Amino acid sequence: MPNHPAEPFRIKMVEPIRLPQREEREAAMKKAGYNLFSLPAEEVFIDLLTDSGTGAMSQHQWAAIMEGDESYAGARSFYHLKESIQKIFGFPYFVPTHQGRAAENILAALLVKPTSAIPSNMHFDTTEANIRARGGRPTNLVNDKAFEVGLRAPFKGNMDLQKLEEFIQATKVENIPFGSITITNNAGGGQPVSYENIKGVSEIYHKYNIPFFIDACRFAENCYFIKQREAGFADKSTLQIANEIFALADGAWMSSKKDAIVNIGGFLAMRDEKLYQAVCNELILREGFPTYGGLAGRDLEALAAGLMEGLDENYLDYRLKQTGYLGERILEAGVPIIEPPGGHAIYIDAGSIFKHIPQSEFPGQALSAALYLEGGIRSVEIGSVMFAHKDPDSGQMVYPQLELVRLAIPRRVYTQSHMDYVVEILKKIADNRQAYRGYRITYAPELLRHFTARFEPL
Ligand code: F0G
Repeated sequence: MPNHPAEPFRIKMVEPIRLPQREEREAAMKKAGYNLFSLPAEEVFIDLLTDSGTGAMSQHQWAAIMEGDESYAGARSFYHLKESIQKIFGFPYFVPTHQGRAAENILAALLVKPTSAIPSNMHFDTTEANIRARGGRPTNLVNDKAFEVGLRAPFKGNMDLQKLEEFIQATKVENIPFGSITITNNAGGGQPVSYENIKGVSEIYHKYNIPFFIDACRFAENCYFIKQREAGFADKSTLQIANEIFALADGAWMSSKKDAIVNIGGFLAMRDEKLYQAVCNELILREGFPTYGGLAGRDLEALAAGLMEGLDENYLDYRLKQTGYLGERILEAGVPIIEPPGGHAIYIDAGSIFKHIPQSEFPGQALSAALYLEGGIRSVEIGSVMFAHKDPDSGQMVYPQLELVRLAIPRRVYTQSHMDYVVEILKKIADNRQAYRGYRITYAPELLRHFTARFEPL
């Protein structure tokens, strides 16, 4: 077997992309306030901003789209989705939502109060913001290895069980309306969580009667990592592993734009019937009737198919190897990343490439701007632009431990030569690192500022 297996698909339809001229890229950045989210996608050559909703659907999914049932209530497509969700996740109740954060919003609206604290390994930014928007406190309890950039450990997404126990004891149990875990850990490098750890987390939450919800965006990639890395799982299918994981939880939400390889969609699933009834009321107010939840019938149909396809082991093997290939080549070029490579993305340690740029001047922002200016590549900063905030008690700025730039790989979209191109551009930047400067924020909203902030080069 070659190290990098060929893509397990062939290309039936193509979408042209082009590299704009250097002057065009400079003008586009200036116009965008140096925020890559504000760039028109047409100005981007290789778009690694996110793996969310950017995957290529299969011929089977496109065929399913044509069979979508657009009935307002009780559409056939809803029952197809229900079948997939029950097969994989096993929760008796679920509602579709238009994407992951809509599910987070509903859960937060129903359960989070100003006194609430919600533990997780690491909350993703939208989860964190949904909790904060209700006055709650999101708390990250990932194990310390997650912050050792160069350390190769198999499950760096694991929660620190001792910290979790201590946190629950220090916070009143009645102030923890639910506990969570994110698989894989997106904010911490796309690193997987072991089955053993999820089981330990589940036992602790349940010891204190705290409902356990899994943020399941990238559950399939997590299952394949478990199959490869955790003793006792090599002979189990990814579907069996998923069944075992979700049997440990009281519910889950999923942005299906990731591992279900659809362009839009999500869901919120649970065991508790009372909660489900409250969720339905909230859903009807904000998203739609409980059998479509803000999606078209065709979207439900593509999702029903995509959930099963996302678990295909031929596909997952290629998927994780493509990400691994990009990561290892970047390391060979002398650029530090979070090791080992994650499932959906490579996280470049911008803070250590740009040591001369202090956190208050956004080294991650500087690297992501450079990637675009040098090579038309769009990435996303996961550092101080995204996470630095004023502590409400002390009024001091709190900076994240790492200044990262994420290269997220859309599913089944880019080829190996695109990956090679990205490596070349990164090497060029790293070899000339002293030439780059930091940035200053000229505008930023209070919540989720990275989406709309504007910058000026220093
Ligand atoms: N949870 C995790 C772990 C996520 O990565 C995301 C989205 C969400 C929840 C929210 O889902 O976008 O469908 O509303 N992550 C995307 C990303 C945006 O680029 O990582 P959504």
